[in-house]
Parts: sequence; C-alpha cells; structure tokens
Amino acid sequence: MRLGVCYYPEHWPEEVWAEDARRMVEMGLTWVRIGEFAWSRLEPEPGSFEFGWLDRALEVLHSAGLKVVLGTPTATPPKWLVDADPGMLAIGSDGQPRRFGSRRHYCFSSESYRGECARIVTALADRYGDHPAVAAWQTDNEYGCHDTTISYSAAAARRFRLWLRARYGDIAALNAAWGTVFWSQEYRAFEEIDPPLQTVTEANPSHRLDYNRFASDEVASFNRLQVDILRRLSPGRDVIHNFMGFYTEFDHFAVGADLDVASWDSYPLGFLEDFWFSPEDKRRYLRQGHPDVSAFHHDLYRGCGRGRWWVMEQQPGPVNWAGFNPAPLDGMVRMWTWEALAHGAEVVSYFRWRQAPFGQEQFHAGLNLPDRTPDVAAAEVRQVAAEIAALGQLSPCARAPVALIFSYEGDWVTKIQPQGRGYSALRLVFEVYSGLRGLGLDVDIVDPQADLTGYAMVVAPALPIVDAALADRLMALSAPVLLGPRTASKTRDLHIPPGLPPEALCAALPIRVTRVESLRDDVSLPVTVGDGSEGLSARAWREFIESPLTPLARFADGGGAWYRHGHFDYLATWPEAALLRRVLTALAARAGIACTPLAEGVRLRRRGGLTFAFNSAPEDREAPAPRGAAFVLGARKLAPGGVSAWRDDPG
Ligand code: GAL
Repeated sequence: MRLGVCYYPEHWPEEVWAEDARRMVEMGLTWVRIGEFAWSRLEPEPGSFEFGWLDRALEVLHSAGLKVVLGTPTATPPKWLVDADPGMLAIGSDGQPRRFGSRRHYCFSSESYRGECARIVTALADRYGDHPAVAAWQTDNEYGCHDTTISYSAAAARRFRLWLRARYGDIAALNAAWGTVFWSQEYRAFEEIDPPLQTVTEANPSHRLDYNRFASDEVASFNRLQVDILRRLSPGRDVIHNFMGFYTEFDHFAVGADLDVASWDSYPLGFLEDFWFSPEDKRRYLRQGHPDVSAFHHDLYRGCGRGRWWVMEQQPGPVNWAGFNPAPLDGMVRMWTWEALAHGAEVVSYFRWRQAPFGQEQFHAGLNLPDRTPDVAAAEVRQVAAEIAALGQLSPCARAPVALIFSYEGDWVTKIQPQGRGYSALRLVFEVYSGLRGLGLDVDIVDPQADLTGYAMVVAPALPIVDAALADRLMALSAPVLLGPRTASKTRDLHIPPGLPPEALCAALPIRVTRVESLRDDVSLPVTVGDGSEGLSARAWREFIESPLTPLARFADGGGAWYRHGHFDYLATWPEAALLRRVLTALAARAGIACTPLAEGVRLRRRGGLTFAFNSAPEDREAPAPRGAAFVLGARKLAPGGVSAWRDDPG
C-alpha cells in the first residue's frame, strides 16, 4: 500500500483508462492521484458541471482496485472565470497582473476567488465525498509554485490593512513597530498603508516582514477554507497538500497543522541544478542528486505532518523545468523511493504515469512514454514494489536524537536583510543538516513552537527572532543546544534589541554582538580551535563579540568564533564543512549520541528496527553495517545509487 502515481485521465482517450489502471496495479501501485488541474473539464461553462467523465474514471480506477487521491482543481481557474472576474488575478512585483495561460494565476486574497473555490470544492465533495474510490483529497496544488505566495492586488492591499489593524490596534503602535519616523514614513491611518511594492530603494523591513506574515496567513486560511469543506462532506478521508522543495514563502508548519497528512514533491536532480550548490557538487551528483536534499525535505515534512507524510510526486526521469535536466542514473528512482520510506513516508507516488505529448511539460518523463510503452523507471518501480512486499510492514519512525529547528520567519528575515549577498537562513540550516547527516545522525526538523524536551541535542542555526517564550524553553533545556550566528539578533518588529543581540538569551549566554561583517564568497576566515587545530575556516559572516567567556575557537585576530556557556554553544560565524563537523561532533559527544562519520555520498536512516544505507556518490561505497550484519535489502557493497538495509542489533 505504499506506492502511487499521478494520472490525468482527461489527457487520454477513455479507451485506454482500463488498460492504464490494470498496468498500474500490475506494476505494484495502489494509489492514484487525479483531478488537480481539471476545472475546465469539470465545469466547462459557469455553473454547468460535467461529472460524467470523472464518474467513469473513478469507476475504472476503483474496479481495478486502486485508491484515489482526488485533487481540488483550484490551481487552474478556467478562462471564463478569469474573464468574468479579472480582479482575482495575482499582481506581480512588477505591478502587472499574472495572466491566464499557464497555472496558479490567482491571488490568495481575492474574496471572490475564495468564493469560487468554495463552490467547486463543495460541488466535488458533494458528489464524491463518500465515493468508495476516493480515499483522500489533495487541496489545490503546490501553494506558492511559480512564486505565487505574494501578490500585490487591490484585494491583498485591503486585507493587509485589516490584518494590520487586528495586529496593532492603533496606528501609533504600527508606526513605532515599523520605525516609520526613519525617512518620514509615518502613517496617519491604516487606510494609508500599501503593500511594500515599487519603492525607490528597499522598502521598510518591518513592513516587508509583516507582508510576509500576512501572505503566509492568507495561504493558511485559503487552505483551511477547502479543508473545512472536505472534512464536512467527506469524513474519514485524509486531507493532504503537496508542498515543494526549498520553498519558504509561507509557514508550512502552519498550513500543515490543518492537514491530516503533509506531502511534498521530490525532484532531486532539478533541486541540485537550480539551487546554491557548487559547480563541483552539480557535476558530482549530476545523476543521483545531492545526498541530503531529499532527506532534508523528508525530515521537514514529517515535522509538518506531525509524523504523517507522503511524497506526492517523485521524479521518474528527466524533468523539464530546471536550468539543465539530466537523466537519473539507472536505479535512482528505486533508491529515492527507499530513501523516502526509510525516513517514514507512508506513500511514494510518482509524477507522472505517462509523459504528455502536448502542453508545457512535454520534456518531463513519466513511468511510461507518450506511446504507452514503459519508460526506464517502470522497471525500477516494479522492483521496489516487490522489495517492499517482501520486507513487510515498517513501523513509524521513532523520535530522532537530534532536533533541528527551522523557522520560516527566520528565512524571511534573512531574505529581507541578508546584509551579505546570498546569506540565507535556509541554506545555513541545510548545511548544518548536511553536517549532522554526514555524522550518521537521524534528525527531526521541527517548528520553533515544537516540544523540544526529550531530544538529546537541539540545533538552531538560524533563529534571528527569539521571542520570550522560545527563549524560556531553550534556556530550560538541559540537552546541548547549538545556536547559529544572528540568533536573537532582532525583535519581533525587526529592530535591534535594546541590549544588543542575543538579548533574549542573555540570562543564560553572556555575550554581546557589537559589530557584524559580511564577506564575499571567495573570502575564507581561518579559525583555530582551542587545542590549536589548523585548517578550519568560516565564511560569509563574522560577529565581533564582547564576553567574559573564553571562546572555544578564535579568528586569526583573536576574536571569538565559537563560545560555550552552560548547555549553549554559540557560533559567531558561518562554519565551513570541517569546522562544522568539529562543532557538531563535540556537541554530539556532550549529548551522549554515538556518531558514525560516513564516507562522502553515504547516508543512513533508521526505521522500524532497520538501518538503511544509501549511496549518492558516483563510485562504489561500503555500507557501515556491523560485522556479520543480517542484510534484508542489498548488501554491504553499495554501487552508485545503491541501497541496503540490515536489522539493528537487538543488543
Ligand atoms: C510540480 C507540479 C506538477 C508538475 C511537476 C513537474 O511542481 O506539482 O504539476 O508540474 O512539478 O516536475
């Protein structure tokens, strides 16, 4: 019951549906997601529904034994709707409407569009809410995809003003919070405030942060509208949304709180190509993907789903949308599937059943070619389905020893004021995650609100805003806590705290950051750890610290780079890999967690009494299994793209 596929019956002649369904089942698939872009076929004319084809598609899939995830089609409002209500279009940062002709051309704040969404979701849920084939729902599709979280429409401006009024009560409080006396930006009334758009130079940072918070709340309430309808009309079915990779424009923990299951769309080769990785990494992992990218999101979305999560779309071959779109190494689709399962996925579903010969994604592979013959991944899916069946039920993931805190708001703060080009909270968190995983550690990525008690070690690389409640919770822990640069460097309103950073934690951490500098990418700062070890370095960011503490590591001029006091470790810089490994190893030792330093490209994950090993390197590796380990999957030798698993030693 673990594998699925995304299918578009409306793209294919009805005569092939039964054959498709039969082959899905024969391949080992049990789930099929349909419908998420089908509005123009469901309601070709305003108010006149054509459900016949969907009735028949559901019948075909159901009688083949498949379970259906039915998508709400709200990511693709049809032409007639847009023409009747052009005000529902999002307005981009160029001040122009984002027009019809692709997808996601709507503004989350449009009340009329919310009404239309409620109408189509109600119609679907009325008709299919208790259909025996429909086992789950997907709301919309990839909120925020194509940079669509933030819109500058009139509706957004109107609702932003209401949001501000609810937050601040009176305009004087807003003026104080935003520091509008700076450059004569003072407002006399909420009605005077516009979205932060097309200002001459950077807009007021507190204004921008509130706009991020507002836009994030809009996504959450838009989703909730659909969830409420689906829960009412289709009880007992899981409601799911498919999130994206490396996307932070709204708080996914907040949206996840309204779902039964979080899911995400995993395109490892596209993410490697389109994000910050070095040219060497892009070459090295060209066909396998970076060893930590999928796992990072698996661990993040497990947190967003409070333990319940899927991969809704798994890359099956070359994609169409990255800068370059290489083909995965043979075996990767199998490895990516196992990796997701090892991290706790309930279901892995491939995108898509068959490559589309028309439309925007013609170059995107599927499990089948446009001529209906199997593509490369089909055999891998068959193999993984057989392996899953042989291995039997896997129990859920246990709590990991390490909690890694990720704050979406923290990422907005560093986007608004990076201070050094490319400074990114997300990237720093990812690099620390990567460091932990290179030591063989399992990690839970958690919301700043999460309960941190019970973790052996807590890592918070990027928390620029630490409110009093979070500060209290961090200070009350006894487990070692690693804090990254810029921790508690801003208040909730995005001001420097009166007592200088990290003021919120000063009761437990006697340091004061008096100056920061940011550095070009080609500058590396040597760092010496107390014992004199050489060859360690930091980059991008340095803080100058006043403290009575003796630092554990220093920059060349003697300034502190790494401090420890009580259970807190503080990094005054962005550590490069060797320094990071040094810091994390020391922390794990203090936490009493055993590390397994791994060969480059190898990663481990434990689930249900098994340890899984994966090899993303382009060369053979060995799984670090104990001598005499009982392998239940693969063997000690890990070819590139290889996976193995062995039973944990019960002793
Ligand atoms: C996802 C999206 C799918 C499809 C896919 C292609 O972002 O949800 O509809 O476009 O990418 O990789």
